[in-house]
Amino acid sequence: MENLEDLKNEIIAKINTCTELKQLDDVRVAVLGKKGKITEMMKGLGALPQEEKIAFGKGLNILKNDIEAALEKQKKILEEKALNEKLKNETIDVTLPVRPETQGRIHPVSKIYEEVAAIFGQMGFDIAEGPDIEDQFHNFNALNMPVNHPARQMQDTFYLNNDPTKQFDMETAYVIRTHTSGVQIRTMEKQQPPIRIIAPGRTYRSDYDATHTPMFHQLEGLVIDKNITLAHLKGCLYDFMKAFFELDELPVRYRPSYFPFTEPSAEMDIGCLKTKTELKIGAGTDWMEVLGCGMVHPNVLRAGGIDPDEYQGFAFGLGIDRLAMLKYGIPDLRTFFESDVRWLKHYGFTPLDFSSMTGGLSNNGGLAR
Ligand code: DAH
Repeated sequence: MENLEDLKNEIIAKINTCTELKQLDDVRVAVLGKKGKITEMMKGLGALPQEEKIAFGKGLNILKNDIEAALEKQKKILEEKALNEKLKNETIDVTLPVRPETQGRIHPVSKIYEEVAAIFGQMGFDIAEGPDIEDQFHNFNALNMPVNHPARQMQDTFYLNNDPTKQFDMETAYVIRTHTSGVQIRTMEKQQPPIRIIAPGRTYRSDYDATHTPMFHQLEGLVIDKNITLAHLKGCLYDFMKAFFELDELPVRYRPSYFPFTEPSAEMDIGCLKTKTELKIGAGTDWMEVLGCGMVHPNVLRAGGIDPDEYQGFAFGLGIDRLAMLKYGIPDLRTFFESDVRWLKHYGFTPLDFSSMTGGLSNNGGLAR
């Protein structure tokens, strides 16, 4: 009778040295398969005398169970090893940039739209829109700029000839809007206070140099409620500027100014450092004008169908392109509209870097530069 204990040790040693599942299966077949060593021994039991048969049979069963357990254990180890190797070989570094490089960039103006929407969205503002082709009521009259008001001449307006069969009539002609302020009126016509909107959009004036293009972009803001004060205007715009320039501290000042649709009116400046080669926002002793603002003129509220004795509000207007130039150091406005893909590749933004107050506005790391 073979020494079962030796046999067991021998087989288990073999099992434990297996490094591949295939190799392990070969051992299993050689021991427990149809013609395997233990199987053959079991077949041989019948030829043994009764007593030996019982004792040896018992021993063989125990051996078989031990071998099966050892096989199972080694199988688990090898399977886990195989899985780990597979995972290691198939690892993907999700932080690597996409290859091939994604095509297409978000234009800085679109990026600023996203950024201001994220900031004002968090402050509870809605986004309002108005038409590019506007009537003079909304573009001028309702904004406290009646016919012959000198402020109309300040804006180099494009007038449209509504009906080419008739003599052009300056007073009834449509204009392509010279500012987004008309959206203030359109919003008041549609909605009772409380009102809290921003209105980004294209605006047009007959002007062309490094800082002026015939089409440009503005952002209008309007807040109307009971008890709105100049303090709300100051706080709101201060918070906006800090968020927009992504600075914890930003010196600001308000200078008295004049706009027909606000009283009092002001212009907001932010502190900066200007040198010949550099503009640094938030540092230094220079000032840069960034927007116009004021308390909504009672005539404007009336034109929008709102009782100025019950409600008041503030408004502001700023140039989106100008903000883009300041924030992203773009020197010439005309390049914004030249559709040069090299320029867009340089100054544009990757499409998947969304602007958000929590995830980051400009995602500087994602700048396509
Ligand atoms: N509409 C003005 C412009 O185009 C900008 C502006 C100034 C808008 C003051 C406002 C405001 O709402 O309150 O120059």
